[in-house]
Amino acid sequence: MEEKDYLQILKDLTLEEKASLCSGDTFWTTKAIERVGIPSVRVSDGPNGLRREKDTGGTNVMQVSEPATCFPTAVTAASTWNEELIQEEGKAIANEALSLGVTTVLGPGVNIKRSPLCGRNFEYFSEDPYLAGKMGAAWIHGVQSENVGVSLKHFFANNQEHLRMMIDSIIDERAMREIYLPAFEYIVKTENPTTLMCCYNRINGTYGSDNKLALTSLLRDEWGFKGIVMSDWGAVNDRVEGIRAGLDLEMPGNKGINDKLIVKAVKDGSLSEAELDKVALRMIKFAFESKEKEKQVEANTEQNNDIARRIAEEGAVLLKNDDKALPIKPEQNIAVIGSLAKHMRYQGSGSSNINPTHLTSFLDAMNEAGQAYEYADGYKLKGDGYSKALIKKACKVAKDKDAVLVFIGLTDDYESEGFDRKHINLPDSHNTLIEELLKVNENIIVVLSGGSPMKISKWDKKVKSILNLYLGGQVGGKAAYNLIYGKVNPSGKLAETFPLRNHDNIVSRYFPHGPRTVEYRESVFVGYRYFDTAEKEVAYPFGFGLSYTQFEYSDLKLSAAKINEGDPFTVSFKVKNVGDVAGAEIAQLYVSDVESSIFRPKKELKGFKKIFLEPGEEKEITIELNSRAFAYYNVLIKDWHIESGDFNILVGSSSRKIELSGVVNVTSKNPDAPIPDYRENSPYYYDISEKEEQKKRIPHEQFAALYGKPLIENKPFEKGEFTINNTIAQISVTGFGKFLYNVLTFGARLVAIGSSNPGMIIESVKDLPIRGFCGFTGGLVSFKSCEGIVDICNGVKGGWKKFFGGFKKEKEPKE
Ligand code: BGC
Repeated sequence: MEEKDYLQILKDLTLEEKASLCSGDTFWTTKAIERVGIPSVRVSDGPNGLRREKDTGGTNVMQVSEPATCFPTAVTAASTWNEELIQEEGKAIANEALSLGVTTVLGPGVNIKRSPLCGRNFEYFSEDPYLAGKMGAAWIHGVQSENVGVSLKHFFANNQEHLRMMIDSIIDERAMREIYLPAFEYIVKTENPTTLMCCYNRINGTYGSDNKLALTSLLRDEWGFKGIVMSDWGAVNDRVEGIRAGLDLEMPGNKGINDKLIVKAVKDGSLSEAELDKVALRMIKFAFESKEKEKQVEANTEQNNDIARRIAEEGAVLLKNDDKALPIKPEQNIAVIGSLAKHMRYQGSGSSNINPTHLTSFLDAMNEAGQAYEYADGYKLKGDGYSKALIKKACKVAKDKDAVLVFIGLTDDYESEGFDRKHINLPDSHNTLIEELLKVNENIIVVLSGGSPMKISKWDKKVKSILNLYLGGQVGGKAAYNLIYGKVNPSGKLAETFPLRNHDNIVSRYFPHGPRTVEYRESVFVGYRYFDTAEKEVAYPFGFGLSYTQFEYSDLKLSAAKINEGDPFTVSFKVKNVGDVAGAEIAQLYVSDVESSIFRPKKELKGFKKIFLEPGEEKEITIELNSRAFAYYNVLIKDWHIESGDFNILVGSSSRKIELSGVVNVTSKNPDAPIPDYRENSPYYYDISEKEEQKKRIPHEQFAALYGKPLIENKPFEKGEFTINNTIAQISVTGFGKFLYNVLTFGARLVAIGSSNPGMIIESVKDLPIRGFCGFTGGLVSFKSCEGIVDICNGVKGGWKKFFGGFKKEKEPKE
């Protein structure tokens, strides 16, 4: 069909029909309009596989889903730094989507890991926007090359789970442009994703779902986005404002409650029909284009399982390997300790939870290979898991063995969508287990599972090896076996920093925060950008990972010593495998401005390449840099800007191990541009290092000066100021609010019994905004009742009447 056909259909629609296209039908489908042939579209969660819920009806959150390949989660995928492999994952997911009747997969998430404590970090790629953009683009490229749609999420600044549905992320414009937007920008510009999902939170005062700056000015006008924008599930704040802002589709369906508001707004003239037409036209096009994607295919389950294994193998990061303790030789007499070897933690909790086609634990893989071992649990899987008896038994098993493989890590209680981690510690029992095992055997090899950095400094100097599997997907156990027994050489590198302690990270002082705002006071100093600039010791740096072989770097060549902004510029160098086994190296290219008037991170990743090398083999790598690689975002000229001068070109095997370096002089296209100068009002940013008294917080006024607008006072909400955006927990300071809180959290606890993730259910209820009652009950509780709740909590007369009145069936608005 062509544009003119879509326009004709639009013309044939009534106002009500157009409005009906603006929200979902069910939890996972859009509305069809049979009269004119508009089909319904089915979407399903990704991103590490398909969560295609079974058609059991109803609107309950988290129904059982169809079996699908559970790939390693994004944190593991990112650690492969292998774009081709992640493209293959995308293709495999597209294949399974089509086989399950799905034409849009909800993923990937490219939000930045601002803090290691974000509960959903396992589902995001990196603390670095360049790497997140590249990996997200690869995933999308794969899915879309098989003619299946995606939803790039969560746009943007959704970097914490606590209060995610109402928190206001306060970010200075430069950090927004340099840290939180580039992954989205790169993907929109290079991959043209079919859809994008807005975030739950507000960004500098305005909800993501009605943020015109984000959804229209940036996305469509500046970056040329052509697809549709859908809301995150229950993210809509003001639906009519959302239409003006460019939010096409509200999800999930809630019986068209908001559609009626759209109709009313057009009728009373507060919304122009032309604005609704723009949205409706995009939805018509999306529906027909999605229909054309439908195709009957068989799921290539075996092939996809193989791709999942390869990602798990390439994404595992060898953090330490003293005395070549790994790989284990088949003849070695070994002990395997830790329940996580038997019941592997292979994926995260929440909307990305896949029902795997099958599962291979490490013990399964050992048994399959006929490898002898002795096993002990060491701890219980629930809670902290401490058991004196289990530790004792584990020590007995470990005592006389040649080597002890200890599987520890974060269990589901420790990280999940819906709540943030409280600390970066491992369960105490896991640390105790290691300490006790070290007393009976010095050959301890730790195998970590978990979706984000953990504090391992209590024992990491004392053990021989540490292999970080992250979350390896359904066949992660087999991957672990292949890595541990040297069938595969580890080649993953960290896509995030492992700090020594959480409070070493500047962000820790401003995370997660609420009740109203979270100030991104650290500005551009996120992840290694902070640690490297502040020259702070870390446990394992960004980009770090060992191999069973060694690599040597040589022959750095820059295509020119001096360039003008915009000139082509390439960096080439050689990498040689000087060890005796085949392996892969991830060479990283960082750029550093030698001298700049404005504060800048010490170095930033601007290129990388993963190469596979046989023993003795050498390859030349060439990386092209464009002018963005040298630029910072200049808020005065509202554009990227290069200050003329020297830039260090740093080629490293990690952000902390620079192997080769050179200098290029770049002449700016815009030498006379004014450069923002905060030296007087925000000096902290020019000397971010943690010297003497600087352990204190970044002063409020200094961040305010950088932000450039007055900051909202982040004080608790009080009676009289509640709105439908306040959460159940926030209104619990009032009598009725407390009653609701108690009833609902009691209900949540009941629902949570037997669930694999009780924490998420309970915390999500506490953090649910009152307006969520309407959306998540499929409209059973009306907006009027929600407003009634607010009025009661605020002590406004007539609140009870409104509350109960809201349960009566509303009459259709008068013509
Ligand atoms: C999550 C999204 C997900 C959606 C549908 C939301 O709570 O934030 O990532 O796609 O639910 O399950």
